[in-house]
Amino acid sequence: MTFDVAAVRAHFPSLTSGIAHFDGPGGTQTPAVVGQAIAHSLTGPLSNRGRSVVSERNADDAVDGFRSAMADLLGATANGIVYGRSATQITYDFSRTLAKTWNPGDEVVVSQLDHDANVRPWVQAAAAAGVTVRWLRLDPATAELDLTDLDEVVNERTRLVAVTAASNLIGTAPPVARIAARAHEVGALVYVDGVHYTAHRTVDITALGADFFVCSPYKFFGPHCATLAADPALLEELDPDKLLPSTNAVPERFEFGTLPYEMMAGAAAAVDFLAGLTTAEGSRRAQLTAANHVIDEHEQRLRRDIEDGLAALGDRITVHSVAPERTPTLFCTFRDTDAADVSRRLAGRDILAPAGSFYAYEPFRALNLGVDAGLRIGLAPYNDDTDVDRLITTLGEVVSGR
Ligand SMILES: Cc1ncc(COP(=O)(O)O)c(C=O)c1O
Repeated sequence: MTFDVAAVRAHFPSLTSGIAHFDGPGGTQTPAVVGQAIAHSLTGPLSNRGRSVVSERNADDAVDGFRSAMADLLGATANGIVYGRSATQITYDFSRTLAKTWNPGDEVVVSQLDHDANVRPWVQAAAAAGVTVRWLRLDPATAELDLTDLDEVVNERTRLVAVTAASNLIGTAPPVARIAARAHEVGALVYVDGVHYTAHRTVDITALGADFFVCSPYKFFGPHCATLAADPALLEELDPDKLLPSTNAVPERFEFGTLPYEMMAGAAAAVDFLAGLTTAEGSRRAQLTAANHVIDEHEQRLRRDIEDGLAALGDRITVHSVAPERTPTLFCTFRDTDAADVSRRLAGRDILAPAGSFYAYEPFRALNLGVDAGLRIGLAPYNDDTDVDRLITTLGEVVSGR
Protein backbone atom coordinates (compact mmCIF):
# COMPACT_ATOMS: atom_id res chain seq x y z
CA MET A 1 0.00 0.00 0.00
CA THR A 2 1.31 3.46 -0.84
CA PHE A 3 1.08 6.55 1.31
CA ASP A 4 -0.83 9.41 -0.34
CA VAL A 5 0.78 12.38 1.37
CA ALA A 6 -1.28 14.94 -0.57
CA ALA A 7 -4.48 13.31 0.66
CA VAL A 8 -3.12 13.30 4.22
CA ARG A 9 -2.14 16.97 4.03
CA ALA A 10 -5.66 17.92 2.97
CA HIS A 11 -6.88 16.94 6.46
CA PHE A 12 -4.74 19.64 8.10
CA PRO A 13 -6.20 23.15 7.76
CA SER A 14 -3.06 24.69 9.28
CA LEU A 15 -0.85 23.45 6.43
CA THR A 16 -2.40 26.07 4.14
CA SER A 17 -0.16 28.53 6.04
CA GLY A 18 2.60 27.45 3.65
CA ILE A 19 4.98 26.70 6.53
CA ALA A 20 7.15 23.63 6.05
CA HIS A 21 6.93 22.08 9.53
CA PHE A 22 10.03 20.22 10.66
CA ASP A 23 9.03 20.72 14.30
CA GLY A 24 7.02 17.48 14.66
CA PRO A 25 9.08 16.31 17.69
CA GLY A 26 7.90 19.45 19.47
CA GLY A 27 4.27 18.82 18.52
CA THR A 28 2.44 18.03 15.29
CA GLN A 29 -0.20 20.02 13.44
CA THR A 30 -3.78 18.94 14.07
CA PRO A 31 -6.22 17.44 11.56
CA ALA A 32 -9.69 18.99 11.31
CA VAL A 33 -11.39 15.86 12.69
CA VAL A 34 -9.52 16.22 15.98
CA GLY A 35 -10.57 19.84 16.39
CA GLN A 36 -14.13 18.86 15.48
CA ALA A 37 -14.18 16.06 18.05
CA ILE A 38 -13.04 18.48 20.76
CA ALA A 39 -15.64 21.10 19.79
CA HIS A 40 -18.37 18.46 19.48
CA SER A 41 -17.63 17.05 22.92
CA LEU A 42 -17.40 20.45 24.59
CA THR A 43 -20.44 22.06 22.99
CA GLY A 44 -22.68 18.99 23.08
CA PRO A 45 -24.57 18.00 26.22
CA LEU A 46 -21.80 17.45 28.78
CA SER A 47 -21.92 16.96 32.53
CA ASN A 48 -19.87 14.99 34.99
CA ARG A 49 -19.62 11.24 34.44
CA GLY A 50 -22.72 9.14 34.95
CA ARG A 51 -25.32 7.16 33.03
CA SER A 52 -28.56 8.98 33.92
CA VAL A 53 -28.96 11.45 31.04
CA VAL A 54 -27.18 12.02 27.74
CA SER A 55 -24.87 14.73 29.11
CA GLU A 56 -23.55 12.35 31.77
CA ARG A 57 -23.27 9.51 29.31
CA ASN A 58 -21.28 11.71 26.91
CA ALA A 59 -18.71 12.39 29.62
CA ASP A 60 -18.54 8.73 30.53
CA ASP A 61 -18.21 7.68 26.89
CA ALA A 62 -15.42 10.21 26.29
CA VAL A 63 -13.43 8.62 29.12
CA ASP A 64 -14.09 5.09 27.88
CA GLY A 65 -13.31 6.13 24.30
CA PHE A 66 -9.99 7.60 25.37
CA ARG A 67 -8.96 4.55 27.34
CA SER A 68 -9.85 2.13 24.59
CA ALA A 69 -8.12 4.23 21.89
CA MET A 70 -4.91 4.53 23.92
CA ALA A 71 -5.03 0.83 24.76
CA ASP A 72 -5.23 -0.01 21.05
CA LEU A 73 -2.43 2.40 20.25
CA LEU A 74 -0.07 1.07 22.91
CA GLY A 75 -0.97 -2.62 23.04
CA ALA A 76 -2.32 -2.08 26.55
CA THR A 77 -5.47 -2.76 28.59
CA ALA A 78 -8.13 -0.02 28.69
CA ASN A 79 -8.37 0.04 32.48
CA GLY A 80 -4.60 0.42 32.71
CA ILE A 81 -4.74 3.77 30.86
CA VAL A 82 -4.23 6.85 33.05
CA TYR A 83 -4.96 10.35 31.72
CA GLY A 84 -2.59 13.22 32.52
CA ARG A 85 -2.03 16.82 31.56
CA SER A 86 1.49 16.14 30.23
CA ALA A 87 4.10 13.40 30.33
CA THR A 88 6.09 15.60 32.67
CA GLN A 89 3.18 15.85 35.12
CA ILE A 90 2.45 12.11 35.00
CA THR A 91 6.09 11.21 35.55
CA TYR A 92 6.38 13.57 38.52
CA ASP A 93 3.23 12.04 40.02
CA PHE A 94 4.42 8.47 39.52
CA SER A 95 7.93 9.26 40.76
CA ARG A 96 6.48 10.48 44.07
CA THR A 97 4.13 7.52 44.34
CA LEU A 98 6.81 4.93 43.57
CA ALA A 99 9.33 6.65 45.84
CA LYS A 100 7.05 5.85 48.78
CA THR A 101 8.11 2.23 48.32
CA TRP A 102 11.87 2.95 48.24
CA ASN A 103 14.29 2.70 51.17
CA PRO A 104 17.80 4.01 51.77
CA GLY A 105 20.23 1.61 50.09
CA ASP A 106 17.89 1.18 47.11
CA GLU A 107 18.94 2.47 43.69
CA VAL A 108 17.18 3.95 40.68
CA VAL A 109 18.65 4.07 37.18
CA VAL A 110 18.19 6.90 34.70
CA SER A 111 19.79 7.47 31.31
CA GLN A 112 21.83 10.14 29.60
CA LEU A 113 19.70 9.69 26.48
CA ASP A 114 16.51 10.91 28.12
CA HIS A 115 14.49 14.12 27.96
CA ASP A 116 14.67 15.75 31.38
CA ALA A 117 11.02 14.77 32.01
CA ASN A 118 12.24 11.18 32.54
CA VAL A 119 15.34 12.15 34.50
CA ARG A 120 14.74 14.96 36.98
CA PRO A 121 11.53 13.58 38.57
CA TRP A 122 13.43 10.37 39.46
CA VAL A 123 16.61 12.17 40.56
CA GLN A 124 14.60 14.47 42.82
CA ALA A 125 12.41 11.66 44.19
CA ALA A 126 15.57 9.62 44.85
CA ALA A 127 17.17 12.53 46.73
CA ALA A 128 14.03 12.93 48.89
CA ALA A 129 13.99 9.19 49.67
CA GLY A 130 17.74 8.86 50.28
CA VAL A 131 18.13 6.55 47.31
CA THR A 132 21.17 6.32 45.03
CA VAL A 133 20.92 7.32 41.36
CA ARG A 134 22.90 5.32 38.78
CA TRP A 135 23.30 6.27 35.14
CA LEU A 136 23.24 4.53 31.78
CA ARG A 137 25.79 6.56 29.80
CA LEU A 138 25.40 7.92 26.29
CA ASP A 139 28.38 7.28 24.00
CA PRO A 140 28.70 10.50 21.98
CA ALA A 141 30.63 8.70 19.22
CA THR A 142 27.87 6.20 18.46
CA ALA A 143 24.86 8.22 19.75
CA GLU A 144 23.85 5.02 21.58
CA LEU A 145 23.55 4.08 25.22
CA ASP A 146 26.69 2.30 26.41
CA LEU A 147 25.32 -0.92 27.85
CA THR A 148 28.64 -2.64 28.52
CA ASP A 149 28.10 -2.14 32.28
CA LEU A 150 24.33 -2.78 32.21
CA ASP A 151 24.54 -5.72 34.64
CA GLU A 152 26.49 -3.62 37.11
CA VAL A 153 24.37 -0.43 36.83
CA VAL A 154 21.13 -2.42 37.04
CA ASN A 155 21.72 -4.72 40.01
CA GLU A 156 19.99 -6.36 42.98
CA ARG A 157 19.57 -2.95 44.68
CA THR A 158 17.78 -1.39 41.68
CA ARG A 159 14.11 -0.59 42.24
CA LEU A 160 13.38 1.28 39.03
CA VAL A 161 14.90 1.84 35.59
CA ALA A 162 13.71 4.94 33.71
CA VAL A 163 14.63 4.98 30.04
CA THR A 164 13.41 6.52 26.83
CA ALA A 165 12.15 4.46 23.90
CA ALA A 166 13.56 7.12 21.55
CA SER A 167 15.47 10.36 22.02
CA ASN A 168 13.67 13.57 21.09
CA LEU A 169 17.09 15.13 20.40
CA ILE A 170 18.98 12.65 18.23
CA GLY A 171 16.31 10.04 17.49
CA THR A 172 18.22 7.08 18.96
CA ALA A 173 15.92 4.20 19.86
CA PRO A 174 17.79 2.17 22.50
CA PRO A 175 17.19 -1.56 23.08
CA VAL A 176 14.50 -1.07 25.71
CA ALA A 177 13.49 -4.74 25.76
CA ARG A 178 17.07 -5.75 26.59
CA ILE A 179 17.32 -3.16 29.37
CA ALA A 180 13.90 -4.18 30.69
CA ALA A 181 14.87 -7.85 30.71
CA ARG A 182 17.84 -7.06 32.95
CA ALA A 183 15.66 -4.86 35.20
CA HIS A 184 13.09 -7.61 35.59
CA GLU A 185 15.82 -10.16 36.31
CA VAL A 186 16.68 -8.16 39.45
CA GLY A 187 13.06 -7.35 40.34
CA ALA A 188 13.11 -3.69 39.25
CA LEU A 189 10.29 -1.82 37.53
CA VAL A 190 10.75 -0.19 34.12
CA TYR A 191 9.37 3.27 33.33
CA VAL A 192 9.57 4.06 29.61
CA ASP A 193 9.28 7.53 28.08
CA GLY A 194 7.51 6.88 24.79
CA VAL A 195 6.68 10.50 23.97
CA HIS A 196 8.95 10.67 20.90
CA TYR A 197 8.79 6.97 20.02
CA THR A 198 4.99 6.71 19.80
CA ALA A 199 4.89 9.25 16.99
CA HIS A 200 7.05 6.97 14.81
CA ARG A 201 6.63 3.32 15.78
CA THR A 202 3.96 0.80 16.65
CA VAL A 203 4.11 0.49 20.42
CA ASP A 204 3.71 -2.84 22.18
CA ILE A 205 4.31 -2.22 25.86
CA THR A 206 4.56 -5.93 26.60
CA ALA A 207 7.19 -6.55 23.91
CA LEU A 208 9.13 -3.52 25.18
CA GLY A 209 8.98 -4.82 28.74
CA ALA A 210 7.59 -1.49 29.95
CA ASP A 211 5.86 -1.66 33.32
CA PHE A 212 4.90 1.97 32.77
CA PHE A 213 4.81 3.69 29.38
CA VAL A 214 4.06 7.37 28.96
CA CYS A 215 3.25 9.32 25.79
CA SER A 216 1.66 12.60 24.69
CA PRO A 217 -1.03 12.74 21.95
CA TYR A 218 0.04 16.22 20.82
CA LYS A 219 3.08 14.53 19.24
CA PHE A 220 0.80 12.43 17.03
CA PHE A 221 -2.01 14.76 15.87
CA GLY A 222 -3.90 14.95 19.17
CA PRO A 223 -4.47 17.70 21.72
CA HIS A 224 -2.02 18.76 24.43
CA CYS A 225 -2.38 16.01 27.00
CA ALA A 226 -0.70 12.74 27.95
CA THR A 227 -1.32 9.20 29.05
CA LEU A 228 0.35 6.43 30.97
CA ALA A 229 -0.22 2.75 30.25
CA ALA A 230 0.43 0.02 32.80
CA ASP A 231 -0.92 -3.33 33.89
CA PRO A 232 -4.02 -2.56 36.02
CA ALA A 233 -2.85 -5.17 38.54
CA LEU A 234 0.36 -3.19 39.05
CA LEU A 235 -1.59 0.07 39.38
CA GLU A 236 -3.72 -1.60 42.10
CA GLU A 237 -0.59 -2.02 44.20
CA LEU A 238 0.28 1.70 44.17
CA ASP A 239 -0.83 4.29 46.66
CA PRO A 240 -0.81 7.83 45.21
CA ASP A 241 -1.67 10.85 47.35
CA LYS A 242 -5.29 11.68 46.66
CA LEU A 243 -8.33 13.44 48.06
CA LEU A 244 -10.40 11.49 50.59
CA PRO A 245 -13.68 11.60 48.62
CA SER A 246 -12.06 10.73 45.28
CA THR A 247 -12.38 7.16 44.11
CA ASN A 248 -9.78 4.52 44.83
CA ALA A 249 -10.68 2.68 41.63
CA VAL A 250 -7.98 2.03 39.03
CA PRO A 251 -7.13 3.93 36.89
CA GLU A 252 -9.12 6.90 38.32
CA ARG A 253 -7.03 6.68 41.50
CA PHE A 254 -4.22 8.41 39.58
CA GLU A 255 -6.36 11.08 37.89
CA PHE A 256 -6.88 14.19 39.98
CA GLY A 257 -9.94 16.41 39.70
CA THR A 258 -12.51 16.48 36.93
CA LEU A 259 -11.27 14.93 33.71
CA PRO A 260 -11.14 17.09 30.53
CA TYR A 261 -13.62 15.08 28.47
CA GLU A 262 -13.08 17.19 25.37
CA MET A 263 -9.32 16.51 25.37
CA MET A 264 -10.00 12.83 25.79
CA ALA A 265 -12.40 12.92 22.84
CA GLY A 266 -9.76 14.74 20.79
CA ALA A 267 -7.05 12.23 21.65
CA ALA A 268 -9.31 9.32 20.71
CA ALA A 269 -10.10 11.07 17.41
CA ALA A 270 -6.36 11.37 16.72
CA VAL A 271 -5.96 7.61 17.15
CA ASP A 272 -8.93 6.99 14.83
CA PHE A 273 -7.42 9.40 12.30
CA LEU A 274 -4.12 7.50 12.39
CA ALA A 275 -5.92 4.18 12.01
CA GLY A 276 -7.79 5.62 9.02
CA LEU A 277 -4.56 6.41 7.17
CA THR A 278 -4.63 2.87 5.84
CA THR A 279 -7.19 0.89 3.92
CA ALA A 280 -6.21 -2.20 5.91
CA GLU A 281 -9.12 -4.17 7.31
CA GLY A 282 -9.38 -5.54 10.81
CA SER A 283 -9.26 -4.23 14.34
CA ARG A 284 -8.20 -0.66 15.10
CA ARG A 285 -4.94 -2.06 16.49
CA ALA A 286 -4.32 -3.89 13.19
CA GLN A 287 -5.08 -0.71 11.24
CA LEU A 288 -2.73 1.33 13.44
CA THR A 289 0.03 -1.19 12.82
CA ALA A 290 -0.55 -1.05 9.06
CA ALA A 291 -0.69 2.76 9.09
CA ASN A 292 2.54 3.01 11.07
CA HIS A 293 4.20 0.77 8.53
CA VAL A 294 3.43 3.04 5.56
CA ILE A 295 4.13 6.20 7.58
CA ASP A 296 7.51 4.76 8.55
CA GLU A 297 8.39 4.00 4.92
CA HIS A 298 7.40 7.54 3.91
CA GLU A 299 9.31 9.21 6.74
CA GLN A 300 12.41 7.07 6.26
CA ARG A 301 12.52 7.93 2.56
CA LEU A 302 12.35 11.65 3.35
CA ARG A 303 14.96 11.19 6.07
CA ARG A 304 17.36 9.59 3.60
CA ASP A 305 16.76 12.45 1.15
CA ILE A 306 17.54 14.98 3.87
CA GLU A 307 20.63 13.05 4.94
CA ASP A 308 21.87 12.95 1.34
CA GLY A 309 21.18 16.67 0.95
CA LEU A 310 23.05 17.46 4.16
CA ALA A 311 25.96 15.20 3.23
CA ALA A 312 26.35 17.16 0.00
CA LEU A 313 27.03 20.26 2.13
CA GLY A 314 30.25 18.62 3.37
CA ASP A 315 31.85 19.35 6.72
CA ARG A 316 30.04 22.66 7.18
CA ILE A 317 27.29 20.69 8.85
CA THR A 318 27.48 17.80 11.33
CA VAL A 319 24.57 15.45 11.88
CA HIS A 320 24.60 13.90 15.36
CA SER A 321 21.75 11.44 14.71
CA VAL A 322 23.81 8.43 13.72
CA ALA A 323 22.56 5.46 15.76
CA PRO A 324 21.51 2.54 13.54
CA GLU A 325 18.12 2.36 15.28
CA ARG A 326 16.64 5.84 15.13
CA THR A 327 13.55 7.87 14.34
CA PRO A 328 13.51 10.40 11.45
CA THR A 329 14.80 13.17 13.71
CA LEU A 330 18.07 14.84 12.77
CA PHE A 331 20.05 16.99 15.16
CA CYS A 332 22.67 19.16 13.43
CA THR A 333 25.35 21.68 14.28
CA PHE A 334 27.23 23.99 11.92
CA ARG A 335 30.92 24.71 11.45
CA ASP A 336 30.68 28.39 10.56
CA THR A 337 27.45 29.62 12.08
CA ASP A 338 25.26 28.97 15.06
CA ALA A 339 22.13 26.88 14.82
CA ALA A 340 19.85 29.61 16.16
CA ASP A 341 20.90 31.82 13.29
CA VAL A 342 20.29 29.04 10.77
CA SER A 343 16.86 28.45 12.30
CA ARG A 344 16.03 32.17 12.00
CA ARG A 345 17.10 32.19 8.35
CA LEU A 346 14.95 29.15 7.62
CA ALA A 347 12.00 30.74 9.44
CA GLY A 348 12.40 33.73 7.15
CA ARG A 349 11.47 31.35 4.33
CA ASP A 350 8.59 29.78 6.28
CA ILE A 351 10.58 26.66 7.15
CA LEU A 352 10.26 25.76 10.81
CA ALA A 353 13.18 23.76 12.20
CA PRO A 354 13.80 25.12 15.70
CA ALA A 355 17.19 25.36 17.39
CA GLY A 356 17.84 24.46 21.00
CA SER A 357 18.51 21.50 23.25
CA PHE A 358 14.81 20.67 23.60
CA TYR A 359 14.85 19.82 27.32
CA ALA A 360 17.15 16.93 26.43
CA TYR A 361 19.57 18.36 28.95
CA GLU A 362 21.58 15.20 29.62
CA PRO A 363 22.09 14.02 26.02
CA PHE A 364 22.91 17.53 24.91
CA ARG A 365 25.63 17.73 27.59
CA ALA A 366 26.87 14.23 26.83
CA LEU A 367 27.38 15.09 23.16
CA ASN A 368 30.04 17.63 24.22
CA LEU A 369 29.14 20.00 21.43
CA GLY A 370 30.50 23.11 23.07
CA VAL A 371 27.77 25.16 21.39
CA ASP A 372 24.58 26.70 22.65
CA ALA A 373 22.15 24.82 20.47
CA GLY A 374 21.65 22.56 17.51
CA LEU A 375 19.10 22.56 14.73
CA ARG A 376 16.48 19.82 14.97
CA ILE A 377 14.89 18.60 11.76
CA GLY A 378 11.99 16.35 12.66
CA LEU A 379 9.69 14.61 10.24
CA ALA A 380 5.96 14.05 10.59
CA PRO A 381 3.66 12.08 8.25
CA TYR A 382 2.46 15.25 6.47
CA ASN A 383 5.95 16.32 5.37
CA ASP A 384 6.44 15.94 1.63
CA ASP A 385 9.12 16.21 -1.06
CA THR A 386 8.42 19.92 -1.51
CA ASP A 387 9.12 20.54 2.19
CA VAL A 388 12.38 18.62 1.91
CA ASP A 389 13.47 20.40 -1.28
CA ARG A 390 12.81 23.80 0.29
CA LEU A 391 14.75 22.80 3.40
CA ILE A 392 17.80 21.51 1.58
CA THR A 393 17.92 24.40 -0.89
CA THR A 394 17.67 27.01 1.84
CA LEU A 395 20.16 25.25 4.11
CA GLY A 396 22.59 25.12 1.19
CA GLU A 397 22.29 28.87 0.72
CA VAL A 398 22.64 29.58 4.44
CA VAL A 399 25.73 27.46 5.05
CA SER A 400 27.47 28.75 1.94
CA GLY A 401 26.83 32.34 3.09
CA ARG A 402 24.46 33.25 0.25
C1 LIG B 1 10.98 12.44 24.62
C2 LIG B 1 10.13 13.38 25.38
N1 LIG B 1 9.81 13.10 26.65
C3 LIG B 1 9.03 13.89 27.40
C4 LIG B 1 8.54 15.07 26.89
C5 LIG B 1 7.65 15.93 27.74
O1 LIG B 1 6.33 15.75 27.29
P1 LIG B 1 5.15 16.65 27.84
O2 LIG B 1 5.22 17.95 27.10
O3 LIG B 1 3.90 15.88 27.55
O4 LIG B 1 5.39 16.84 29.30
C6 LIG B 1 8.86 15.45 25.58
C7 LIG B 1 8.39 16.71 25.03
O5 LIG B 1 8.90 17.21 24.06
C8 LIG B 1 9.66 14.57 24.81
O6 LIG B 1 9.98 14.86 23.54
